[in-house]
Amino acid sequence: MDAYSKFSKAQLIEQIHLLTTELNEIKSSNEYCMMAHELRVHQTELEAQNQELREMQNVLELARDRYADLYDFAPVGYVTLDQHGIIKDINLTGATLLGRERALLLGESFHHWLDTESVPVFARHLKNVHSLPVEVTDEIKVKSRQGQIRTVNITSLANTSVKNGEVCRSILVDLTERMLIEERLRLSKEVLRDLCTHHETVREEERRKVAREIHDELGQALLALKMDVAMLSESLNDVSPLLLRKTSSMMNLINRTVESVRNIATNLRPAVLDLGVVPALEWLIDEYIKHVGLNCIFETNEEDLELPDEVSTGIFRIVQESLTNVARHARASRVEISLIHENNELCLIVKDDGIGVDEGKRMANRKSFGLTGIRERAIMMGGELSLDSSPGKGATLTVVVPMGKKEKKAS
Ligand SMILES: Nc1ncnc2c1ncn2[C@@H]1O[C@H](COP(=O)(O)OP(=O)(O)O)[C@@H](O)[C@H]1O
Ligand SMILES: [Mg+2]
Repeated sequence: MDAYSKFSKAQLIEQIHLLTTELNEIKSSNEYCMMAHELRVHQTELEAQNQELREMQNVLELARDRYADLYDFAPVGYVTLDQHGIIKDINLTGATLLGRERALLLGESFHHWLDTESVPVFARHLKNVHSLPVEVTDEIKVKSRQGQIRTVNITSLANTSVKNGEVCRSILVDLTERMLIEERLRLSKEVLRDLCTHHETVREEERRKVAREIHDELGQALLALKMDVAMLSESLNDVSPLLLRKTSSMMNLINRTVESVRNIATNLRPAVLDLGVVPALEWLIDEYIKHVGLNCIFETNEEDLELPDEVSTGIFRIVQESLTNVARHARASRVEISLIHENNELCLIVKDDGIGVDEGKRMANRKSFGLTGIRERAIMMGGELSLDSSPGKGATLTVVVPMGKKEKKAS
Protein backbone atom coordinates (compact mmCIF):
# COMPACT_ATOMS: atom_id res chain seq x y z
CA MET A 1 0.00 0.00 0.00
CA ASP A 2 1.33 3.35 -0.94
CA ALA A 3 1.27 6.51 1.22
CA TYR A 4 -1.65 8.14 -0.62
CA SER A 5 -4.14 5.19 -0.38
CA LYS A 6 -5.60 6.50 2.85
CA PHE A 7 -6.54 9.95 1.12
CA SER A 8 -9.84 10.54 -0.62
CA LYS A 9 -9.82 11.82 -4.16
CA ALA A 10 -10.73 15.38 -3.05
CA GLN A 11 -7.98 15.30 -0.47
CA LEU A 12 -5.60 14.07 -3.08
CA ILE A 13 -6.56 16.93 -5.41
CA GLU A 14 -6.03 19.38 -2.59
CA GLN A 15 -2.65 17.79 -1.88
CA ILE A 16 -1.76 18.14 -5.52
CA HIS A 17 -2.72 21.85 -5.47
CA LEU A 18 -0.66 22.40 -2.38
CA LEU A 19 2.34 20.66 -3.90
CA THR A 20 1.93 22.60 -7.18
CA THR A 21 1.87 25.95 -5.30
CA GLU A 22 4.94 24.95 -3.29
CA LEU A 23 6.69 23.88 -6.43
CA ASN A 24 5.88 27.22 -8.12
CA GLU A 25 7.16 29.16 -5.13
CA ILE A 26 10.43 27.20 -5.16
CA LYS A 27 10.76 27.84 -8.93
CA SER A 28 10.20 31.58 -8.67
CA SER A 29 12.58 31.90 -5.73
CA ASN A 30 15.25 30.20 -7.89
CA GLU A 31 14.61 32.72 -10.67
CA TYR A 32 14.91 35.57 -8.21
CA CYS A 33 18.21 34.17 -7.06
CA MET A 34 19.51 34.01 -10.60
CA MET A 35 18.31 37.55 -11.35
CA ALA A 36 19.92 38.85 -8.19
CA HIS A 37 23.14 37.17 -9.17
CA GLU A 38 23.04 38.69 -12.63
CA LEU A 39 22.31 42.10 -11.15
CA ARG A 40 25.30 41.78 -8.83
CA VAL A 41 27.51 40.87 -11.78
CA HIS A 42 26.23 43.96 -13.67
CA GLN A 43 26.80 46.12 -10.65
CA THR A 44 30.44 44.95 -10.34
CA GLU A 45 31.00 45.55 -14.03
CA LEU A 46 29.51 49.03 -13.79
CA GLU A 47 31.68 49.87 -10.79
CA ALA A 48 34.81 48.74 -12.71
CA GLN A 49 33.75 50.84 -15.72
CA ASN A 50 33.10 53.78 -13.44
CA GLN A 51 36.58 53.47 -11.92
CA GLU A 52 38.10 53.30 -15.41
CA LEU A 53 36.20 56.43 -16.44
CA ARG A 54 37.36 58.28 -13.31
CA GLU A 55 40.97 57.34 -14.05
CA MET A 56 40.59 58.41 -17.67
CA GLN A 57 39.13 61.72 -16.56
CA ASN A 58 42.13 62.27 -14.25
CA VAL A 59 44.54 61.57 -17.10
CA LEU A 60 42.64 63.96 -19.39
CA GLU A 61 42.58 66.67 -16.74
CA LEU A 62 46.34 66.30 -16.22
CA ALA A 63 46.96 66.49 -19.97
CA ARG A 64 44.67 69.52 -20.24
CA ASP A 65 46.54 71.28 -17.39
CA ARG A 66 49.87 70.43 -18.96
CA TYR A 67 48.81 71.83 -22.34
CA ALA A 68 47.28 74.88 -20.67
CA ASP A 69 50.66 75.45 -18.93
CA LEU A 70 52.50 74.95 -22.18
CA TYR A 71 50.18 77.46 -23.84
CA ASP A 72 50.23 80.01 -21.06
CA PHE A 73 53.89 79.93 -20.15
CA ALA A 74 55.33 79.45 -23.63
CA PRO A 75 58.33 81.74 -24.22
CA VAL A 76 56.34 83.44 -26.99
CA GLY A 77 52.95 85.11 -27.01
CA TYR A 78 50.03 83.27 -28.64
CA VAL A 79 46.98 85.24 -29.66
CA THR A 80 43.82 84.25 -31.52
CA LEU A 81 42.13 87.03 -33.46
CA ASP A 82 38.94 87.45 -35.42
CA GLN A 83 38.90 89.07 -38.85
CA HIS A 84 38.74 92.58 -37.35
CA GLY A 85 41.71 91.96 -35.09
CA ILE A 86 39.62 91.44 -31.95
CA ILE A 87 41.41 89.30 -29.36
CA LYS A 88 39.50 86.04 -28.88
CA ASP A 89 42.17 84.33 -26.81
CA ILE A 90 45.66 85.11 -25.61
CA ASN A 91 48.20 83.27 -23.47
CA LEU A 92 49.81 84.73 -20.34
CA THR A 93 53.08 85.59 -22.14
CA GLY A 94 51.10 87.54 -24.73
CA ALA A 95 49.14 89.33 -22.00
CA THR A 96 52.40 90.20 -20.17
CA LEU A 97 53.80 91.58 -23.43
CA LEU A 98 50.81 93.92 -23.69
CA GLY A 99 51.01 94.70 -19.96
CA ARG A 100 47.41 93.86 -19.16
CA GLU A 101 45.45 91.08 -17.44
CA ARG A 102 44.36 88.39 -19.83
CA ALA A 103 40.67 88.59 -18.88
CA LEU A 104 40.62 92.31 -19.70
CA LEU A 105 42.22 91.77 -23.08
CA LEU A 106 39.60 89.33 -24.36
CA GLY A 107 37.24 91.15 -26.71
CA GLU A 108 39.65 94.12 -27.07
CA SER A 109 41.03 95.15 -30.46
CA PHE A 110 44.69 94.28 -30.97
CA HIS A 111 45.01 97.65 -32.78
CA HIS A 112 44.80 99.44 -29.41
CA TRP A 113 48.19 98.02 -28.49
CA LEU A 114 50.00 99.12 -31.59
CA ASP A 115 52.42 102.00 -31.89
CA THR A 116 51.04 104.49 -34.45
CA GLU A 117 53.62 103.62 -37.11
CA SER A 118 52.70 99.94 -36.89
CA VAL A 119 48.94 100.41 -37.46
CA PRO A 120 49.16 100.23 -41.30
CA VAL A 121 51.69 97.40 -41.06
CA PHE A 122 49.33 95.33 -38.92
CA ALA A 123 46.31 96.12 -41.16
CA ARG A 124 48.27 94.86 -44.17
CA HIS A 125 49.39 91.85 -42.10
CA LEU A 126 45.79 90.85 -41.30
CA LYS A 127 44.77 91.35 -44.93
CA ASN A 128 47.62 89.13 -46.12
CA VAL A 129 46.80 86.43 -43.55
CA HIS A 130 43.28 86.20 -44.92
CA SER A 131 44.27 86.22 -48.54
CA LEU A 132 47.39 84.00 -48.48
CA PRO A 133 47.41 80.29 -47.61
CA VAL A 134 50.81 80.58 -45.89
CA GLU A 135 52.32 81.99 -42.71
CA VAL A 136 52.70 85.76 -42.80
CA THR A 137 55.46 87.44 -40.82
CA ASP A 138 55.96 91.12 -40.03
CA GLU A 139 57.73 93.27 -37.52
CA ILE A 140 55.53 95.57 -35.48
CA LYS A 141 55.91 97.79 -32.45
CA VAL A 142 53.47 97.24 -29.60
CA LYS A 143 52.86 99.76 -26.88
CA SER A 144 52.20 98.20 -23.50
CA ARG A 145 49.67 99.70 -21.12
CA GLN A 146 52.58 101.24 -19.21
CA GLY A 147 53.68 103.03 -22.40
CA GLN A 148 56.68 100.79 -23.07
CA ILE A 149 57.37 100.25 -26.78
CA ARG A 150 58.51 96.75 -27.71
CA THR A 151 59.52 95.46 -31.10
CA VAL A 152 57.64 92.27 -31.88
CA ASN A 153 57.87 89.74 -34.66
CA ILE A 154 54.34 88.58 -35.51
CA THR A 155 53.76 85.39 -37.48
CA SER A 156 50.16 84.55 -38.32
CA LEU A 157 48.34 81.76 -40.05
CA ALA A 158 44.66 81.79 -41.03
CA ASN A 159 42.57 79.27 -39.09
CA THR A 160 40.86 77.15 -41.72
CA SER A 161 38.31 75.57 -39.35
CA VAL A 162 36.73 78.86 -38.31
CA LYS A 163 34.99 78.52 -34.93
CA ASN A 164 33.43 81.33 -32.90
CA GLY A 165 34.75 83.86 -35.41
CA GLU A 166 38.41 82.92 -34.65
CA VAL A 167 40.07 83.44 -37.96
CA CYS A 168 43.77 83.67 -37.30
CA ARG A 169 46.34 82.49 -34.82
CA SER A 170 49.46 84.54 -34.27
CA ILE A 171 52.78 84.06 -32.53
CA LEU A 172 54.33 87.13 -30.95
CA VAL A 173 58.08 87.07 -30.39
CA ASP A 174 59.51 89.93 -28.37
CA LEU A 175 62.65 91.11 -30.18
CA THR A 176 63.40 94.07 -27.90
CA GLU A 177 66.09 92.41 -25.75
CA ARG A 178 67.68 90.71 -28.74
CA MET A 179 67.79 93.98 -30.68
CA LEU A 180 69.32 95.71 -27.69
CA ILE A 181 71.99 93.01 -27.44
CA GLU A 182 72.55 93.17 -31.21
CA GLU A 183 72.93 96.93 -31.03
CA ARG A 184 75.44 96.59 -28.17
CA LEU A 185 77.30 93.95 -30.13
CA ARG A 186 77.34 96.18 -33.21
CA LEU A 187 78.66 99.09 -31.17
CA SER A 188 81.33 96.98 -29.53
CA LYS A 189 82.34 95.60 -32.94
CA GLU A 190 82.56 99.16 -34.22
CA VAL A 191 84.77 100.14 -31.26
CA LEU A 192 86.92 97.06 -31.86
CA ARG A 193 87.24 97.93 -35.53
CA ASP A 194 88.14 101.55 -34.71
CA LEU A 195 90.70 100.24 -32.26
CA CYS A 196 92.09 97.92 -34.90
CA THR A 197 92.27 100.77 -37.45
CA HIS A 198 93.98 102.98 -34.90
CA HIS A 199 96.36 100.19 -33.97
CA GLU A 200 97.27 99.56 -37.62
CA THR A 201 97.73 103.29 -38.35
CA VAL A 202 99.97 103.72 -35.31
CA ARG A 203 101.91 100.57 -36.18
CA GLU A 204 102.42 101.68 -39.76
CA GLU A 205 103.47 105.16 -38.61
CA GLU A 206 105.92 103.63 -36.10
CA ARG A 207 107.36 101.35 -38.80
CA ARG A 208 107.80 104.31 -41.11
CA LYS A 209 109.47 106.35 -38.33
CA VAL A 210 111.77 103.54 -37.18
CA ALA A 211 112.69 102.67 -40.80
CA ARG A 212 113.54 106.29 -41.51
CA GLU A 213 115.57 106.65 -38.32
CA ILE A 214 117.45 103.41 -38.95
CA HIS A 215 118.12 104.48 -42.50
CA ASP A 216 119.09 108.07 -41.72
CA GLU A 217 120.80 107.81 -38.34
CA LEU A 218 122.38 104.38 -38.50
CA GLY A 219 123.02 104.69 -42.22
CA GLN A 220 124.84 108.02 -41.77
CA ALA A 221 126.84 106.73 -38.81
CA LEU A 222 127.87 103.62 -40.71
CA LEU A 223 128.84 105.69 -43.74
CA ALA A 224 131.03 107.94 -41.55
CA LEU A 225 132.56 104.85 -39.93
CA LYS A 226 133.21 103.36 -43.33
CA MET A 227 135.00 106.52 -44.50
CA ASP A 228 137.09 106.61 -41.30
CA VAL A 229 138.09 102.96 -41.64
CA ALA A 230 138.98 103.56 -45.29
CA MET A 231 141.20 106.49 -44.25
CA LEU A 232 142.74 104.43 -41.44
CA SER A 233 143.38 101.60 -43.82
CA GLU A 234 145.16 103.95 -46.25
CA SER A 235 147.38 105.45 -43.53
CA LEU A 236 148.23 101.98 -42.20
CA ASN A 237 149.12 100.76 -45.62
CA ASP A 238 152.86 100.36 -45.06
CA VAL A 239 152.99 100.57 -41.25
CA SER A 240 151.46 97.35 -39.98
CA PRO A 241 150.20 94.50 -42.18
CA LEU A 242 148.47 93.02 -39.11
CA LEU A 243 146.47 96.21 -38.44
CA LEU A 244 145.73 96.50 -42.14
CA ARG A 245 144.16 93.03 -42.11
CA LYS A 246 142.16 94.11 -39.08
CA THR A 247 140.84 97.26 -40.84
CA SER A 248 139.96 95.18 -43.88
CA SER A 249 137.85 92.81 -41.77
CA MET A 250 136.33 95.88 -40.03
CA MET A 251 135.37 97.20 -43.47
CA ASN A 252 133.72 93.87 -44.34
CA LEU A 253 131.77 93.92 -41.11
CA ILE A 254 130.67 97.51 -41.75
CA ASN A 255 129.52 96.57 -45.28
CA ARG A 256 127.55 93.61 -43.92
CA THR A 257 126.01 95.83 -41.24
CA VAL A 258 125.03 98.44 -43.85
CA GLU A 259 123.33 95.66 -45.81
CA SER A 260 121.44 94.31 -42.83
CA VAL A 261 120.42 97.81 -41.71
CA ARG A 262 119.04 98.38 -45.19
CA ASN A 263 117.15 95.07 -45.01
CA ILE A 264 115.72 95.83 -41.59
CA ALA A 265 114.55 99.27 -42.75
CA THR A 266 113.05 97.81 -45.92
CA ASN A 267 111.25 95.05 -44.04
CA LEU A 268 109.78 97.59 -41.71
CA ARG A 269 108.52 99.70 -44.58
CA PRO A 270 109.99 99.64 -48.07
CA ALA A 271 110.96 103.14 -49.16
CA VAL A 272 109.64 102.26 -52.62
CA LEU A 273 106.12 102.47 -51.15
CA ASP A 274 106.59 106.25 -51.16
CA LEU A 275 106.80 106.06 -54.97
CA GLY A 276 103.34 104.51 -55.24
CA VAL A 277 101.60 101.17 -54.89
CA VAL A 278 102.55 99.81 -58.34
CA PRO A 279 106.36 100.20 -57.96
CA ALA A 280 106.04 98.86 -54.41
CA LEU A 281 104.17 95.75 -55.62
CA GLU A 282 106.64 95.25 -58.48
CA TRP A 283 109.50 95.39 -55.97
CA LEU A 284 107.69 93.02 -53.58
CA ILE A 285 107.02 90.50 -56.36
CA ASP A 286 110.64 90.65 -57.58
CA GLU A 287 111.81 89.93 -54.04
CA TYR A 288 109.27 87.11 -53.73
CA ILE A 289 110.40 85.45 -56.96
CA LYS A 290 114.02 85.84 -55.85
CA HIS A 291 113.50 84.35 -52.38
CA VAL A 292 110.58 81.93 -52.77
CA GLY A 293 111.20 80.93 -56.37
CA LEU A 294 107.51 80.82 -57.36
CA ASN A 295 106.26 81.89 -60.76
CA CYS A 296 104.51 85.17 -59.96
CA ILE A 297 102.75 87.41 -62.47
CA PHE A 298 101.59 90.94 -61.85
CA GLU A 299 99.32 93.02 -64.03
CA THR A 300 97.71 96.40 -63.65
CA ASN A 301 95.75 98.72 -65.89
CA GLU A 302 97.35 101.82 -64.41
CA GLU A 303 101.10 102.07 -63.93
CA ASP A 304 100.99 105.53 -62.38
CA LEU A 305 98.11 104.83 -60.01
CA GLU A 306 98.10 107.34 -57.20
CA LEU A 307 96.27 106.34 -54.07
CA PRO A 308 95.93 107.78 -50.58
CA ASP A 309 98.83 106.55 -48.46
CA GLU A 310 96.64 104.33 -46.25
CA VAL A 311 95.18 102.61 -49.33
CA SER A 312 98.62 102.05 -50.92
CA THR A 313 99.93 100.67 -47.65
CA GLY A 314 96.79 98.57 -47.14
CA ILE A 315 97.02 97.01 -50.62
CA PHE A 316 100.74 96.42 -50.19
CA ARG A 317 100.28 94.68 -46.83
CA ILE A 318 97.41 92.54 -48.17
CA VAL A 319 99.54 91.33 -51.10
CA GLN A 320 102.46 90.75 -48.73
CA GLU A 321 100.35 88.57 -46.39
CA SER A 322 98.65 86.77 -49.32
CA LEU A 323 102.01 85.91 -50.91
CA THR A 324 103.28 84.64 -47.55
CA ASN A 325 100.18 82.44 -47.28
CA VAL A 326 100.71 81.06 -50.78
CA ALA A 327 104.32 80.24 -49.93
CA ARG A 328 103.39 78.68 -46.56
CA HIS A 329 100.18 76.82 -47.28
CA ALA A 330 99.22 76.61 -50.95
CA ARG A 331 101.83 74.29 -52.51
CA ALA A 332 101.20 76.32 -55.68
CA SER A 333 103.29 76.59 -58.80
CA ARG A 334 101.99 79.96 -59.94
CA VAL A 335 100.48 83.14 -58.47
CA GLU A 336 98.71 85.82 -60.45
CA ILE A 337 98.20 89.26 -59.01
CA SER A 338 96.12 91.92 -60.65
CA LEU A 339 95.33 95.44 -59.54
CA ILE A 340 92.64 97.02 -61.66
CA HIS A 341 91.30 100.52 -61.21
CA GLU A 342 88.08 101.16 -63.08
CA ASN A 343 84.54 102.39 -62.54
CA ASN A 344 85.60 104.13 -59.34
CA GLU A 345 86.66 100.84 -57.86
CA LEU A 346 90.00 99.34 -57.06
CA CYS A 347 90.02 95.59 -57.47
CA LEU A 348 92.90 93.49 -56.20
CA ILE A 349 93.01 89.78 -57.04
CA VAL A 350 95.58 87.30 -55.77
CA LYS A 351 95.03 83.92 -57.39
CA ASP A 352 97.07 80.76 -56.86
CA ASP A 353 96.84 77.27 -58.37
CA GLY A 354 97.55 75.42 -55.13
CA ILE A 355 95.68 72.94 -52.94
CA GLY A 356 92.98 75.43 -51.91
CA VAL A 357 91.98 76.60 -48.45
CA ASP A 358 90.92 73.83 -46.09
CA GLU A 359 87.98 75.53 -44.37
CA GLY A 360 87.96 73.07 -41.46
CA LYS A 361 91.64 73.69 -40.77
CA ARG A 362 91.18 77.42 -41.13
CA MET A 363 88.24 77.54 -38.69
CA ALA A 364 90.05 75.29 -36.23
CA ASN A 365 93.11 77.53 -36.18
CA ARG A 366 91.75 80.34 -34.06
CA LYS A 367 95.17 81.82 -33.47
CA SER A 368 95.70 82.68 -37.15
CA PHE A 369 95.08 86.29 -37.88
CA GLY A 370 96.51 86.67 -41.38
CA LEU A 371 93.22 86.38 -43.25
CA THR A 372 91.40 88.24 -40.47
CA GLY A 373 93.95 91.03 -40.80
CA ILE A 374 93.37 91.12 -44.57
CA ARG A 375 89.62 91.37 -44.03
CA GLU A 376 90.04 94.12 -41.44
CA ARG A 377 92.38 96.08 -43.74
CA ALA A 378 89.84 95.78 -46.57
CA ILE A 379 87.09 97.10 -44.27
CA MET A 380 89.40 99.88 -43.03
CA MET A 381 89.71 101.04 -46.64
CA GLY A 382 85.92 100.97 -46.96
CA GLY A 383 86.05 97.84 -49.09
CA GLU A 384 85.45 94.14 -48.70
CA LEU A 385 87.22 90.83 -49.04
CA SER A 386 86.02 87.63 -50.63
CA LEU A 387 87.91 84.35 -50.63
CA ASP A 388 86.95 81.82 -53.24
CA SER A 389 88.52 78.41 -52.89
CA SER A 390 87.78 74.75 -53.28
CA PRO A 391 89.98 71.71 -52.58
CA GLY A 392 92.55 71.20 -55.32
CA LYS A 393 91.38 74.24 -57.23
CA GLY A 394 93.58 76.91 -55.67
CA ALA A 395 92.49 80.05 -53.89
CA THR A 396 91.39 83.43 -55.20
CA LEU A 397 91.39 86.34 -52.85
CA THR A 398 89.56 89.43 -54.05
CA VAL A 399 89.53 92.82 -52.39
CA VAL A 400 87.29 95.53 -53.81
CA VAL A 401 87.72 99.07 -52.54
CA PRO A 402 85.43 101.87 -53.72
CA MET A 403 87.47 104.87 -54.85
CA GLY A 404 86.65 108.48 -55.50
CA LYS A 405 87.26 110.01 -58.90
CA LYS A 406 90.04 108.39 -60.88
CA GLU A 407 93.22 110.19 -59.92
CA LYS A 408 96.30 110.16 -62.10
CA LYS A 409 99.73 111.38 -61.27
CA ALA A 410 100.62 114.56 -63.13
CA SER A 411 103.28 113.57 -65.62
N1 LIG B 1 96.52 80.49 -50.44
C1 LIG B 1 96.19 79.56 -49.56
N2 LIG B 1 96.13 78.25 -49.95
C2 LIG B 1 95.78 77.28 -49.06
N3 LIG B 1 95.45 77.50 -47.77
C3 LIG B 1 95.50 78.78 -47.33
C4 LIG B 1 95.86 79.87 -48.18
N4 LIG B 1 95.79 81.02 -47.47
C5 LIG B 1 95.41 80.67 -46.25
N5 LIG B 1 95.22 79.32 -46.13
C6 LIG B 1 94.71 78.56 -44.97
O1 LIG B 1 94.07 79.46 -44.10
C7 LIG B 1 94.64 79.40 -42.81
C8 LIG B 1 94.64 80.77 -42.16
O2 LIG B 1 95.54 81.65 -42.79
P1 LIG B 1 96.07 82.89 -41.98
O3 LIG B 1 94.89 83.54 -41.36
O4 LIG B 1 96.91 83.73 -42.89
O5 LIG B 1 96.94 82.25 -40.83
P2 LIG B 1 98.38 81.56 -40.82
O6 LIG B 1 99.03 81.89 -42.15
O7 LIG B 1 99.06 82.17 -39.67
O8 LIG B 1 98.11 80.09 -40.64
C9 LIG B 1 96.02 78.83 -43.01
O9 LIG B 1 96.47 78.17 -41.86
C10 LIG B 1 95.81 77.89 -44.17
O10 LIG B 1 95.30 76.65 -43.71
MG1 LIG C 1 99.09 83.82 -42.94
